[in-house]
Amino acid sequence: MYTDLVDLEKEAQRSLQRLLPQVEVALQKQIAKDPQTWISFNKRLESHFSKLFLLYYNLYAERYDFFYHLANLLNSLAEAAFVRPKDLRELDQAREKDPLWFQSNQMVGGVCYVDLFAINLNGIKEKIPYFKELGLTYLHLMPLFKMPEGENDGGYAVSSFREVHPPLGTMAQLSGLSRALRAEGISLCLDLIINHTASEHEWAELAKSGDPEYREMYGIFPNRKTPDAYEKNLREIFPEEHPGAFTWFEDIQAWVWTTFHSYQWDLNYANPAVFNHMAEELLFLANQGVEIFRLDAVAFIWKELGTGCENLPEAHTILQGFNALTRIAAPAILFKSEAIVHPDDVVKYISPTECQLSYNPLLMALLWNSLATRKVDLLSQALATRFKIDPATAWVNYVRCHDDIGWTFSDEDAIRLGVRGSDHRQFLNEFYRGRFPGSFSRGLPFQENPKTGDCRISGTCASLAGLEKAIQEEGAAEVTLAIERIALMYHVVMTVGGIPLIYLGDEVGTLNDYSFLEDPDKKDDSRWVHRPAADWESYAKRLDPKTIEGRVFQSLRQMISFRKAHSALQGGSLEVVNTGNDHVLGYSRANENQRLVIFANFSEEPQVLPARVLEQNNVRTKKTLFGKARIPKQGELVLRPMAFVVFG
Ligand code: GLC
Ligand code: GLC
Repeated sequence: MYTDLVDLEKEAQRSLQRLLPQVEVALQKQIAKDPQTWISFNKRLESHFSKLFLLYYNLYAERYDFFYHLANLLNSLAEAAFVRPKDLRELDQAREKDPLWFQSNQMVGGVCYVDLFAINLNGIKEKIPYFKELGLTYLHLMPLFKMPEGENDGGYAVSSFREVHPPLGTMAQLSGLSRALRAEGISLCLDLIINHTASEHEWAELAKSGDPEYREMYGIFPNRKTPDAYEKNLREIFPEEHPGAFTWFEDIQAWVWTTFHSYQWDLNYANPAVFNHMAEELLFLANQGVEIFRLDAVAFIWKELGTGCENLPEAHTILQGFNALTRIAAPAILFKSEAIVHPDDVVKYISPTECQLSYNPLLMALLWNSLATRKVDLLSQALATRFKIDPATAWVNYVRCHDDIGWTFSDEDAIRLGVRGSDHRQFLNEFYRGRFPGSFSRGLPFQENPKTGDCRISGTCASLAGLEKAIQEEGAAEVTLAIERIALMYHVVMTVGGIPLIYLGDEVGTLNDYSFLEDPDKKDDSRWVHRPAADWESYAKRLDPKTIEGRVFQSLRQMISFRKAHSALQGGSLEVVNTGNDHVLGYSRANENQRLVIFANFSEEPQVLPARVLEQNNVRTKKTLFGKARIPKQGELVLRPMAFVVFG
C-alpha cells in the first residue's frame, strides 16, 4: 500500500542527496585533484541515477539492506569514474555525441581466440596490420581472463576478471592493445561472463570455506529439496556433462547450481552484492579500454522457482541496471547480448537502454537451413517479420562462431510454411552431420540428449558448407560450389543490415580440426572441432587466386570493400523483395541516395526471376554493382547457381 504512494523519481533524487555527501567525503582527495571529473560525474548522475535507482529498487527493494548496497554501488561508480583514463573519457564524449556510430557501413567485426590466433596478446598486436587488411573495425577476443588449467570451457570459466590468463599476457598489455587497436579504428570487444564464475574464482573459494557473504553469492544447497523443486521446470543445457542444473560437491557436502559445466558456478543475482561485484568488474574492464561487452549467457542470470529460469523479466532489469551504470561511469560502453534462445525472447534483450547490440542467431540458423533445403522461405519470412529492431540498436550478424549451431527458429513461424519444427530440426541435424543422403556437410553432433532427441551441430563454416568433403572425395566442381556457399552466406551477412562478424579462420576456408579428440580436456566437447589454431601457412596463400584460401579470402574481401563503399548498407532497415522463386532470397537496402536490390540464389542450379520482379524493383534501370548477372532488356533474369548479385 505504502509503495503505491511513493513517487520513486522523487525518492531517487532524495536518496542521491543523502548518499552523495558520503561519496564526496570518501573521494575528497580525488575531487580536490580533479574537480572537473566530479562535475561531469554529477551531471551524468543527474541524467541517469533515477533510472538506475528504479531498476535497483525493482530488484532489491525488499532487502533490509537495500540502501547499504545502493550506497556501495554509488561509491564504486564514483571511484571508477575517477580512475577512467583520459583517452577513454574523450572517447565517452565522442560516443555521447555520436551514439549511433556502430550503425556505419564501415563496421566489420572479427572474433578469435588469443592463443589460437596469435599465441598471446603481443601476437594479437602484431596482427593489427592483418585486421586492417581485412577491414575490421571491431575485434572480439574470446575470454582471456585467468582461467583454470585443464578444462575451462574455452575461458568461459573465469578465475579472475582482473587478471589476464598468464600465458596470454598481462592486464597492462591488454589496455595497451586496446589503445593500439583504437588508434587503428578498431574497437575491442570482450566477454563479460556474468552468469557464473569458475569454481576456483576467489568468490567461490571463499564460499567453499564457509564465508556466508560469499556463500550467498552462489546457489548452494545442502540437499536435493530445492534443486528438485527447481529442476521440475529447467531445460538441460549440457546434458552430456551432467544431468540437470546442479552438481554435488563432496568437499562442501552441497549441491551447487551449475547450468553449464560443473566447474562453472552460477551467480545468485537475487543478492545485490552479486550485482555490485559484477558492476565493479565491468567498470574495471571498461577502464582498460574495452568498448563492447559481449554479455554471455544472459538468458540464465535470474532464477525463480516454478519457472524455466530463462529470459525472466528480472534478467532484463539486471542488464538495464548495468546499462544505466555505464551511462554514468563509462558511457562509451556498448553491450551485446548473447541470448541463443527463441526469437521472441532474443529481441527482448535489444534496446538502447539494455543491449544495443545482439547476436542474430535466427539469421545464422536460417542461412544454414537455406543451404540445406535450397529454399529461402523461412529466411525470407524471418527477414520480413523478425528483423526489425529499434533503430538505435543493431544486430550482429554471423555465419559461424565458437559455439554449436542450435536450430532456434520459431515453430509457429515454421508451421505457417508447412514445416514441422521438431521433424525439421532432426532433418537439419542429420544433414549437417553428413548422414542425410546427398549431404555435403561434415559436422559433428553437440550435446545430444537421448531423453529429448535434441542435438546441436559443431563444425567450421567451410566443413559444414561442403569444402572438406569436396576436397577429400569429390573434386574441383564441388570445391567451387563449397566456396560459393561460404561466400553466399557471408555476402548476405555483410549486406543485410547491422554489424557483420567474421569468425576468423572462415575467411581462408579453415576446415574442421579433429585433434581435439586426443586432448582429454577437450575430447568431450565437439565445439573444439571448429576451434583450430590459425594456420599461417594457409593465411599466406590468401592473395593467390589459384588457391582455395585465396578464392575464399578474395570473395569476402571484395564484399567488405563493397560494403564500405555503399552507404545504403548502413543501419538496419531492409525491405524483403518477393522474388517469385523459392530458391532466391531478395531484399533491398536503401538510403536517400540509392536503393540496392539484392538477390541470393541458394540452389546449385541456375534460377529464373520473372520479368515482373525486375519491373517492380526497377532492376532494368539499374547497374550490376556486385556479382555477375546481365540484366536483360526485357523478359526474365537468369541467376547463376549460388549467385549473389547486387543491383543499384
Ligand atoms: C556461452 C558461450 C559458450 C559457453 C557458455 C557458458 O554460451 O558462448 O561457449 O559454453 O556461455 O559460459
Ligand atoms: C545454450 C545456451 C547458449 C550457449 C550454448 C553453448 O544453447 O542457450 O547461451 O551459447 O548453450 O553451447
